[in-house]
Amino acid sequence: MDEVFPNGFVWGVATSAFQIEGAHDTDGRGPSIWDTYAEQPGFIEDGSNAHVACDHYHRYAEDIALMTSLGVGAYRFSVAWPRILPTGRGAANVAGLDFYDRLVDGLLAAGIAPWATLYHWDLPQALEDEGGWTNRSTVDAFVEFTHAVSGRLGDRVAHWITHNEPWCVSVLGHAQGAHAPGKRSWPDALVASHHLLLSHGRAVEVIRENAPRAKIGITLNVSECEPASPSEADHIAARQFDGELIRWFLDPIYLGRYPNDVIEYHEREGRLPRGMDFVKAGDLEEINTPIDFLGVNYYSRAVVRSATIPEADNEPRTIAVPDPAELTDMGWEVYPKGLTHSLVRLNADYEPASLVVTENGAAYAMGPGPDGPVQDTRRCDYVKSHLEACLAAIASGVPLHGYFLWSLLDNFEWAFGNAKRFGIVWVDFETQERIIKASGHMYSRIVRTNTISGEQAA
Ligand code: FCB
Repeated sequence: MDEVFPNGFVWGVATSAFQIEGAHDTDGRGPSIWDTYAEQPGFIEDGSNAHVACDHYHRYAEDIALMTSLGVGAYRFSVAWPRILPTGRGAANVAGLDFYDRLVDGLLAAGIAPWATLYHWDLPQALEDEGGWTNRSTVDAFVEFTHAVSGRLGDRVAHWITHNEPWCVSVLGHAQGAHAPGKRSWPDALVASHHLLLSHGRAVEVIRENAPRAKIGITLNVSECEPASPSEADHIAARQFDGELIRWFLDPIYLGRYPNDVIEYHEREGRLPRGMDFVKAGDLEEINTPIDFLGVNYYSRAVVRSATIPEADNEPRTIAVPDPAELTDMGWEVYPKGLTHSLVRLNADYEPASLVVTENGAAYAMGPGPDGPVQDTRRCDYVKSHLEACLAAIASGVPLHGYFLWSLLDNFEWAFGNAKRFGIVWVDFETQERIIKASGHMYSRIVRTNTISGEQAA
């Protein structure tokens, strides 16, 4: 197989505001639902919080210099809503906008293209106090936020992502309680998912006004959903999970309707007590607004078993881990083929104008050895095998135009705190020292040569 990527392929690294910025109460930033969630005893695995995180708010120039030394062409970051609108709506906090202004100018001066994500999970707590994403008025607040940010940065930011992983926001946050705001109600999760989608459609229109030439997309977390056994029950369960995870979001966006089989499934599970009454006239047309690219976050596949799992998990089926399997520190199976299959399938089903891998990477704890360097060989293998998977998708005709490695820095990994390290740059959370890992050096060679042919076999 050709190991060279197409000309102009976008090579990037990704982060998100809450996970790296720190400075949680600096320059007028308000609290977000993740600040609140992290304060609950026992909610964050290692008891850490993100008050300082990677202190990127103060060290952004150093981090841009790191990206320059790696040679990456693009940086995907997110804008913290509570820095811009500390109580969710109303007058913009100029100091918050100024920070992203400095960041964007610094990136452009370094020749790095800024890719801005508007919502990477840090809803202002004041909006949550009014019902958060289950309240339709949060859609209007998101439109205000989008106006403020794209109005200020739209002259320089040419790539926008409205939402990161709305399945995680709605299901992990509202049905499973595993993410902020920590609710455990499926009806709430489905109402929230609709409001997230509606806010996406409206935000696209706002960004088009403020940045007419920009490319706009949305990012989903994607897994290839496979049955755990050949049984019919497991096949049905896998199809249901695929419906919940992927089709529930992409059918409205690309086809202008919710998938009937998934509506019926949610109804049977008692998750739609008032049917789809949260979908108002005109909503689906707005959600169906054309976009320029589909962002795909891929980490692993989902092997689905029909068996009921304990009530605590609030789910009628299990996501199983195949045995034997190679696992990362997250317990996620290393399964690069699932990336190829997912890209091919999404391209066939939805025909997006362009696809971009907006996140892919692996958690491994490996830190500096006695004489300094971080030899994270397993991450090198993970990245290389997933880039091979991208090449295989391109070879079969998928319009894949970019790849963003998650993550530039070790950071605050949500409910796992500082315990899970995804960075290609090591961060010492005490001293804030940064050390480029072997995977960072490898990625640097790849992005400079546009090929993986020089790297050892995974
Ligand atoms: C994704 C999130 C990202 C990071 C990675 C590991 O679901 O978008 O913030 O936590 O997983």
